[in-house]
Amino acid sequence: MVSENFKVTPWEVEGEVDYGKLIEEFGINVIDTKLLERIKKHTGGELHPYLERGIFFAHRDLDKLLDAYEKGEKFYIYTGRGPSQDMHLGHLLPFVFVKWLQDKFGCEVWIQISDDEKFLFKEKTIDQIKKQAEIDILNILAVGFDSEKTIIVSDFKHISVMYETACEIAKKLNFSNVKATFGFNNKTNIGAIFYPAVQMVLAVLPSKIYKKNILCLIPYGIDQDPYFRLQRDINEKMGFYKPVCLAGVFLPGLQGPTGKMSSSDSSSAIFLDDTPEEVANKIKKYAFSGGQPTIEEHRIKGGNPDIDTCFQYLKLFFEPDNAKLQEIYNNYKSGKMLTSELKIYTIKKINDFLEKFRQQREAIQPRVNEFLYSEEKINKNRKIYET
Ligand code: TRP
Repeated sequence: MVSENFKVTPWEVEGEVDYGKLIEEFGINVIDTKLLERIKKHTGGELHPYLERGIFFAHRDLDKLLDAYEKGEKFYIYTGRGPSQDMHLGHLLPFVFVKWLQDKFGCEVWIQISDDEKFLFKEKTIDQIKKQAEIDILNILAVGFDSEKTIIVSDFKHISVMYETACEIAKKLNFSNVKATFGFNNKTNIGAIFYPAVQMVLAVLPSKIYKKNILCLIPYGIDQDPYFRLQRDINEKMGFYKPVCLAGVFLPGLQGPTGKMSSSDSSSAIFLDDTPEEVANKIKKYAFSGGQPTIEEHRIKGGNPDIDTCFQYLKLFFEPDNAKLQEIYNNYKSGKMLTSELKIYTIKKINDFLEKFRQQREAIQPRVNEFLYSEEKINKNRKIYET
Protein backbone atom coordinates (compact mmCIF):
# COMPACT_ATOMS: atom_id res chain seq x y z
CA MET A 1 0.00 0.00 0.00
CA VAL A 2 1.29 3.44 -0.90
CA SER A 3 -0.35 6.48 0.67
CA GLU A 4 0.64 10.09 1.17
CA ASN A 5 2.49 9.57 4.43
CA PHE A 6 3.72 6.02 4.28
CA LYS A 7 4.50 3.03 2.14
CA VAL A 8 4.18 -0.65 3.01
CA THR A 9 5.06 -3.32 0.45
CA PRO A 10 6.82 -6.64 1.11
CA TRP A 11 10.11 -4.94 0.24
CA GLU A 12 9.74 -1.41 1.51
CA VAL A 13 8.38 0.07 4.68
CA GLU A 14 8.68 3.84 4.91
CA GLY A 15 7.14 6.70 6.81
CA GLU A 16 4.67 6.73 9.65
CA VAL A 17 2.60 3.58 9.22
CA ASP A 18 -1.11 4.04 9.79
CA TYR A 19 -2.23 0.56 10.84
CA GLY A 20 -5.89 1.56 10.76
CA LYS A 21 -5.57 2.41 7.09
CA LEU A 22 -3.77 -0.84 6.36
CA ILE A 23 -6.52 -2.84 8.01
CA GLU A 24 -9.08 -1.14 5.84
CA GLU A 25 -7.09 -1.44 2.65
CA PHE A 26 -6.09 -5.08 3.23
CA GLY A 27 -9.54 -6.14 4.42
CA ILE A 28 -8.26 -7.79 7.58
CA ASN A 29 -9.97 -7.96 11.00
CA VAL A 30 -8.77 -6.65 14.33
CA ILE A 31 -8.28 -9.30 17.01
CA ASP A 32 -10.78 -8.38 19.71
CA THR A 33 -10.86 -9.28 23.40
CA LYS A 34 -13.46 -11.96 22.76
CA LEU A 35 -11.07 -13.76 20.47
CA LEU A 36 -8.22 -13.33 22.94
CA GLU A 37 -10.36 -14.88 25.70
CA ARG A 38 -11.03 -17.81 23.40
CA ILE A 39 -7.32 -18.32 22.75
CA LYS A 40 -6.66 -18.22 26.48
CA LYS A 41 -8.86 -21.26 26.97
CA HIS A 42 -6.29 -23.31 25.12
CA THR A 43 -3.13 -21.82 26.56
CA GLY A 44 -3.69 -22.46 30.24
CA GLY A 45 -5.04 -18.95 30.75
CA GLU A 46 -1.84 -17.40 29.49
CA LEU A 47 -1.45 -14.92 26.66
CA HIS A 48 1.84 -14.08 25.05
CA PRO A 49 2.49 -10.30 25.32
CA TYR A 50 2.45 -10.19 21.53
CA LEU A 51 -1.25 -11.04 21.63
CA GLU A 52 -2.22 -9.39 24.87
CA ARG A 53 -0.53 -6.12 23.95
CA GLY A 54 -1.62 -5.99 20.35
CA ILE A 55 1.63 -6.70 18.48
CA PHE A 56 -0.11 -9.40 16.49
CA PHE A 57 -3.26 -7.40 16.08
CA ALA A 58 -5.10 -8.52 12.96
CA HIS A 59 -6.38 -11.77 11.49
CA ARG A 60 -8.43 -13.63 8.94
CA ASP A 61 -10.34 -16.72 10.09
CA LEU A 62 -8.62 -17.10 13.46
CA ASP A 63 -12.07 -17.82 14.86
CA LYS A 64 -12.53 -20.61 12.31
CA LEU A 65 -9.15 -22.05 13.27
CA LEU A 66 -10.27 -22.19 16.89
CA ASP A 67 -13.59 -23.79 15.90
CA ALA A 68 -11.68 -26.54 14.12
CA TYR A 69 -9.11 -26.91 16.89
CA GLU A 70 -11.87 -27.24 19.46
CA LYS A 71 -13.28 -30.08 17.39
CA GLY A 72 -9.93 -31.85 17.57
CA GLU A 73 -8.54 -30.82 14.18
CA LYS A 74 -4.80 -30.23 13.88
CA PHE A 75 -3.25 -27.20 12.23
CA TYR A 76 0.29 -26.25 11.30
CA ILE A 77 2.09 -22.91 11.39
CA TYR A 78 3.92 -21.44 8.43
CA THR A 79 6.31 -18.52 8.76
CA GLY A 80 9.63 -17.46 7.26
CA ARG A 81 12.69 -15.31 7.04
CA GLY A 82 14.51 -13.73 4.14
CA PRO A 83 18.26 -13.83 4.83
CA SER A 84 19.89 -10.65 3.60
CA GLN A 85 21.28 -8.79 6.57
CA ASP A 86 22.16 -9.53 10.17
CA MET A 87 19.11 -10.12 12.32
CA HIS A 88 18.00 -7.62 14.91
CA LEU A 89 15.50 -7.96 17.73
CA GLY A 90 12.60 -7.00 15.47
CA HIS A 91 13.37 -10.02 13.30
CA LEU A 92 13.82 -12.48 16.11
CA LEU A 93 10.91 -11.72 18.42
CA PRO A 94 8.19 -13.01 16.06
CA PHE A 95 9.95 -16.39 16.14
CA VAL A 96 9.86 -16.35 19.94
CA PHE A 97 6.13 -15.84 19.61
CA VAL A 98 5.79 -18.68 17.10
CA LYS A 99 7.66 -21.00 19.46
CA TRP A 100 5.17 -20.05 22.18
CA LEU A 101 2.32 -20.99 19.84
CA GLN A 102 4.04 -24.28 19.09
CA ASP A 103 4.37 -25.04 22.80
CA LYS A 104 0.76 -24.19 23.51
CA PHE A 105 -0.90 -25.84 20.53
CA GLY A 106 1.59 -28.62 19.90
CA CYS A 107 1.67 -27.89 16.20
CA GLU A 108 4.12 -28.47 13.46
CA VAL A 109 5.99 -25.34 12.35
CA TRP A 110 7.25 -24.88 8.80
CA ILE A 111 9.84 -22.15 8.36
CA GLN A 112 10.76 -20.92 4.92
CA ILE A 113 14.21 -19.47 4.38
CA SER A 114 13.62 -17.33 1.31
CA ASP A 115 17.24 -17.09 0.16
CA ASP A 116 16.07 -16.86 -3.46
CA GLU A 117 13.93 -13.85 -2.59
CA LYS A 118 16.83 -11.93 -1.13
CA PHE A 119 19.08 -12.83 -4.04
CA LEU A 120 16.48 -11.56 -6.48
CA PHE A 121 15.58 -8.39 -4.64
CA LYS A 122 18.86 -7.26 -3.09
CA GLU A 123 22.30 -6.40 -4.40
CA LYS A 124 23.91 -9.54 -2.97
CA THR A 125 25.70 -12.55 -4.40
CA ILE A 126 24.41 -16.10 -3.96
CA ASP A 127 27.36 -16.83 -1.67
CA GLN A 128 26.60 -13.87 0.58
CA ILE A 129 22.97 -14.91 0.83
CA LYS A 130 23.80 -18.54 1.59
CA LYS A 131 26.18 -17.52 4.36
CA GLN A 132 23.57 -15.24 5.85
CA ALA A 133 20.98 -18.02 5.62
CA GLU A 134 23.14 -20.32 7.75
CA ILE A 135 23.56 -17.63 10.39
CA ASP A 136 19.86 -16.80 10.37
CA ILE A 137 18.77 -20.44 10.66
CA LEU A 138 20.91 -20.80 13.75
CA ASN A 139 19.45 -17.62 15.24
CA ILE A 140 15.93 -18.80 14.56
CA LEU A 141 16.51 -22.24 16.05
CA ALA A 142 18.05 -20.70 19.16
CA VAL A 143 14.59 -19.61 20.29
CA GLY A 144 13.94 -23.27 21.15
CA PHE A 145 11.69 -24.90 18.56
CA ASP A 146 10.77 -28.55 18.98
CA SER A 147 13.14 -30.41 16.65
CA GLU A 148 10.62 -33.07 15.72
CA LYS A 149 7.82 -30.70 14.93
CA THR A 150 9.82 -28.03 13.12
CA ILE A 151 10.77 -28.15 9.46
CA ILE A 152 13.08 -25.64 7.83
CA VAL A 153 12.74 -25.30 4.09
CA SER A 154 15.41 -23.39 2.24
CA ASP A 155 14.21 -22.31 -1.19
CA PHE A 156 17.56 -22.89 -2.90
CA LYS A 157 18.08 -26.28 -1.28
CA HIS A 158 14.56 -27.66 -1.30
CA ILE A 159 13.02 -26.12 -4.41
CA SER A 160 12.38 -29.54 -5.94
CA VAL A 161 9.73 -30.27 -3.31
CA MET A 162 8.06 -26.93 -3.93
CA TYR A 163 8.38 -26.35 -7.65
CA GLU A 164 5.31 -28.17 -8.95
CA THR A 165 3.10 -26.41 -6.46
CA ALA A 166 4.75 -23.05 -7.16
CA CYS A 167 3.89 -23.55 -10.83
CA GLU A 168 0.30 -24.45 -10.00
CA ILE A 169 0.03 -21.23 -8.01
CA ALA A 170 1.87 -19.09 -10.56
CA LYS A 171 -0.49 -20.25 -13.29
CA LYS A 172 -3.40 -18.82 -11.33
CA LEU A 173 -1.84 -15.35 -11.04
CA ASN A 174 -1.52 -13.02 -13.98
CA PHE A 175 0.86 -10.11 -14.13
CA SER A 176 -1.71 -7.38 -14.41
CA ASN A 177 -3.37 -8.63 -11.24
CA VAL A 178 -0.26 -8.86 -9.06
CA LYS A 179 1.66 -5.90 -10.45
CA ALA A 180 0.13 -3.24 -8.25
CA THR A 181 -0.25 -5.51 -5.22
CA PHE A 182 3.48 -6.14 -5.09
CA GLY A 183 4.65 -2.87 -6.61
CA PHE A 184 6.19 -4.51 -9.70
CA ASN A 185 6.94 -2.59 -12.88
CA ASN A 186 8.53 -3.21 -16.25
CA LYS A 187 12.03 -2.98 -14.77
CA THR A 188 11.39 -5.71 -12.18
CA ASN A 189 13.47 -8.79 -12.95
CA ILE A 190 11.42 -11.82 -13.94
CA GLY A 191 12.74 -13.95 -11.06
CA ALA A 192 11.23 -11.44 -8.66
CA ILE A 193 7.94 -11.64 -10.52
CA PHE A 194 7.77 -15.42 -10.08
CA TYR A 195 8.92 -15.30 -6.46
CA PRO A 196 5.48 -14.66 -4.86
CA ALA A 197 4.40 -18.13 -5.99
CA VAL A 198 7.35 -19.57 -4.06
CA GLN A 199 6.42 -17.76 -0.86
CA MET A 200 2.82 -18.88 -1.22
CA VAL A 201 3.66 -22.56 -1.63
CA LEU A 202 3.97 -23.49 2.02
CA ALA A 203 0.44 -22.29 2.69
CA VAL A 204 -0.70 -25.41 0.87
CA LEU A 205 2.25 -27.80 0.44
CA PRO A 206 2.00 -29.69 3.75
CA SER A 207 -1.63 -30.54 2.92
CA LYS A 208 -0.46 -31.99 -0.36
CA ILE A 209 2.48 -33.83 1.14
CA TYR A 210 0.45 -35.34 3.97
CA LYS A 211 -2.50 -35.95 1.63
CA LYS A 212 -4.90 -34.32 4.01
CA ASN A 213 -6.63 -30.94 4.11
CA ILE A 214 -4.80 -29.27 7.01
CA LEU A 215 -5.44 -25.78 8.32
CA CYS A 216 -2.47 -23.44 8.04
CA LEU A 217 -1.85 -20.53 10.40
CA ILE A 218 0.53 -17.87 9.08
CA PRO A 219 1.98 -15.28 11.48
CA TYR A 220 3.75 -12.48 9.61
CA GLY A 221 4.60 -8.78 9.65
CA ILE A 222 1.77 -6.90 7.97
CA ASP A 223 4.03 -5.97 5.02
CA GLN A 224 3.80 -9.62 3.91
CA ASP A 225 0.02 -9.51 3.67
CA PRO A 226 -0.29 -9.45 -0.17
CA TYR A 227 1.02 -13.01 -0.51
CA PHE A 228 -1.38 -14.59 1.86
CA ARG A 229 -4.36 -12.47 0.91
CA LEU A 230 -3.94 -13.79 -2.63
CA GLN A 231 -3.16 -17.33 -1.54
CA ARG A 232 -6.42 -17.66 0.36
CA ASP A 233 -8.47 -17.87 -2.82
CA ILE A 234 -5.88 -20.00 -4.55
CA ASN A 235 -5.89 -22.54 -1.71
CA GLU A 236 -9.62 -22.75 -2.06
CA LYS A 237 -9.43 -23.21 -5.82
CA MET A 238 -6.94 -26.02 -5.22
CA GLY A 239 -9.42 -27.72 -2.91
CA PHE A 240 -7.86 -26.79 0.43
CA TYR A 241 -8.75 -24.60 3.40
CA LYS A 242 -7.96 -20.93 3.09
CA PRO A 243 -4.86 -20.18 5.17
CA VAL A 244 -5.51 -18.36 8.45
CA CYS A 245 -3.69 -15.03 8.70
CA LEU A 246 -2.20 -13.49 11.83
CA ALA A 247 -0.60 -10.13 11.11
CA GLY A 248 1.74 -8.12 13.32
CA VAL A 249 3.07 -4.58 13.61
CA PHE A 250 6.76 -3.72 13.19
CA LEU A 251 9.07 -3.37 16.16
CA PRO A 252 9.82 0.36 16.38
CA GLY A 253 13.37 1.53 15.85
CA LEU A 254 15.31 3.13 18.67
CA GLN A 255 14.88 6.64 17.41
CA GLY A 256 11.18 7.01 17.66
CA PRO A 257 7.76 5.53 18.10
CA THR A 258 6.91 5.56 14.41
CA GLY A 259 9.88 4.23 12.42
CA LYS A 260 10.61 0.54 11.95
CA MET A 261 13.68 -1.18 13.34
CA SER A 262 15.89 -1.53 10.27
CA SER A 263 19.10 -3.48 9.62
CA SER A 264 20.42 -0.88 7.26
CA ASP A 265 20.49 1.74 10.01
CA SER A 266 22.58 0.50 12.92
CA SER A 267 21.50 3.38 15.14
CA SER A 268 17.88 2.23 14.86
CA ALA A 269 18.46 -1.44 15.61
CA ILE A 270 19.75 -3.75 18.31
CA PHE A 271 21.42 -6.70 16.66
CA LEU A 272 21.54 -10.18 18.13
CA ASP A 273 25.31 -10.00 18.31
CA ASP A 274 25.60 -6.55 19.82
CA THR A 275 27.75 -6.75 22.96
CA PRO A 276 26.24 -5.68 26.29
CA GLU A 277 28.22 -2.44 25.98
CA GLU A 278 26.92 -1.80 22.49
CA VAL A 279 23.35 -2.35 23.65
CA ALA A 280 23.89 0.03 26.55
CA ASN A 281 25.47 2.67 24.32
CA LYS A 282 22.79 2.47 21.67
CA ILE A 283 19.99 2.78 24.19
CA LYS A 284 21.67 5.62 26.01
CA LYS A 285 22.53 7.47 22.84
CA TYR A 286 19.67 6.77 20.46
CA ALA A 287 16.59 5.51 22.32
CA PHE A 288 13.94 8.16 21.90
CA SER A 289 12.97 9.52 25.26
CA GLY A 290 9.57 10.58 26.50
CA GLY A 291 11.24 12.37 29.40
CA GLN A 292 11.77 16.07 30.09
CA PRO A 293 14.98 17.92 29.19
CA THR A 294 16.08 18.36 32.82
CA ILE A 295 15.67 16.27 35.96
CA GLU A 296 13.91 19.15 37.73
CA GLU A 297 11.38 19.47 34.95
CA HIS A 298 10.93 15.70 34.76
CA ARG A 299 10.15 15.48 38.49
CA ILE A 300 7.48 18.15 38.09
CA LYS A 301 5.93 17.31 34.73
CA GLY A 302 6.69 13.60 34.45
CA GLY A 303 7.54 11.65 31.29
CA ASN A 304 5.45 10.28 28.45
CA PRO A 305 5.76 6.47 28.36
CA ASP A 306 3.58 6.22 25.28
CA ILE A 307 6.23 7.73 23.04
CA ASP A 308 9.28 6.51 24.95
CA THR A 309 11.20 3.80 23.07
CA CYS A 310 12.41 2.03 26.22
CA PHE A 311 8.94 1.84 27.65
CA GLN A 312 7.64 0.58 24.30
CA TYR A 313 10.25 -2.21 24.26
CA LEU A 314 9.30 -3.24 27.77
CA LYS A 315 5.68 -3.23 26.74
CA LEU A 316 6.18 -5.11 23.51
CA PHE A 317 8.20 -7.88 24.96
CA PHE A 318 10.77 -7.33 27.64
CA GLU A 319 8.48 -6.87 30.65
CA PRO A 320 5.97 -9.71 30.53
CA ASP A 321 4.75 -8.97 34.07
CA ASN A 322 1.66 -6.77 33.69
CA ALA A 323 1.77 -5.41 37.24
CA LYS A 324 5.42 -4.44 36.95
CA LEU A 325 4.80 -2.80 33.59
CA GLN A 326 1.95 -0.75 35.05
CA GLU A 327 4.15 0.31 37.96
CA ILE A 328 6.86 1.53 35.58
CA TYR A 329 4.24 3.33 33.53
CA ASN A 330 2.89 5.15 36.57
CA ASN A 331 6.31 6.00 37.97
CA TYR A 332 7.59 7.33 34.70
CA LYS A 333 4.47 9.35 34.03
CA SER A 334 4.49 10.90 37.48
CA GLY A 335 8.17 11.80 37.28
CA LYS A 336 9.21 9.44 40.04
CA MET A 337 11.21 7.37 37.57
CA LEU A 338 13.83 9.17 35.49
CA THR A 339 14.71 8.50 31.86
CA SER A 340 18.17 7.30 32.92
CA GLU A 341 16.59 4.79 35.32
CA LEU A 342 14.17 3.55 32.70
CA LYS A 343 17.05 3.15 30.26
CA ILE A 344 19.16 1.17 32.71
CA TYR A 345 16.23 -1.13 33.48
CA THR A 346 15.59 -1.74 29.77
CA ILE A 347 19.27 -2.28 28.96
CA LYS A 348 19.43 -5.00 31.60
CA LYS A 349 16.29 -6.71 30.32
CA ILE A 350 17.57 -6.74 26.74
CA ASN A 351 21.06 -7.89 27.71
CA ASP A 352 19.69 -10.70 29.88
CA PHE A 353 17.55 -11.84 27.00
CA LEU A 354 20.44 -11.71 24.52
CA GLU A 355 22.81 -13.54 26.83
CA LYS A 356 20.39 -16.41 27.29
CA PHE A 357 19.63 -16.40 23.58
CA ARG A 358 23.32 -16.71 22.71
CA GLN A 359 23.78 -19.60 25.13
CA GLN A 360 20.85 -21.42 23.55
CA ARG A 361 22.30 -20.73 20.15
CA GLU A 362 25.57 -22.35 21.05
CA ALA A 363 23.77 -25.39 22.36
CA ILE A 364 21.67 -25.87 19.23
CA GLN A 365 24.49 -25.37 16.74
CA PRO A 366 25.43 -29.07 16.39
CA ARG A 367 21.77 -30.00 15.86
CA VAL A 368 20.76 -27.78 12.96
CA ASN A 369 20.43 -30.70 10.52
CA GLU A 370 17.68 -32.24 12.63
CA PHE A 371 15.44 -29.35 11.62
CA LEU A 372 16.02 -29.30 7.88
CA TYR A 373 13.39 -30.67 5.52
CA SER A 374 13.85 -34.36 4.71
CA GLU A 375 11.63 -37.17 3.56
CA GLU A 376 12.45 -39.02 6.73
CA LYS A 377 11.07 -36.16 8.80
CA ILE A 378 7.93 -36.06 6.69
CA ASN A 379 7.37 -39.77 7.07
CA LYS A 380 7.68 -39.48 10.82
CA ASN A 381 5.43 -36.43 11.10
CA ARG A 382 2.67 -37.89 8.95
CA LYS A 383 1.30 -39.50 12.11
CA ILE A 384 0.56 -36.09 13.66
CA TYR A 385 -2.31 -35.71 11.22
CA GLU A 386 -3.67 -39.25 11.35
CA THR A 387 -6.78 -39.41 13.42
N1 TRP B 1 9.50 -12.59 2.71
C1 TRP B 1 9.87 -12.69 4.09
C2 TRP B 1 11.00 -11.69 4.39
O1 TRP B 1 11.33 -10.88 3.61
C3 TRP B 1 10.29 -14.08 4.47
C4 TRP B 1 9.20 -15.10 4.42
C5 TRP B 1 9.12 -16.19 3.59
C6 TRP B 1 8.02 -15.13 5.24
N2 TRP B 1 8.00 -16.91 3.85
C7 TRP B 1 7.30 -16.30 4.84
C8 TRP B 1 7.53 -14.33 6.27
C9 TRP B 1 6.09 -16.62 5.47
C10 TRP B 1 6.32 -14.66 6.88
C11 TRP B 1 5.61 -15.80 6.48
O2 TRP B 1 11.58 -11.71 5.44
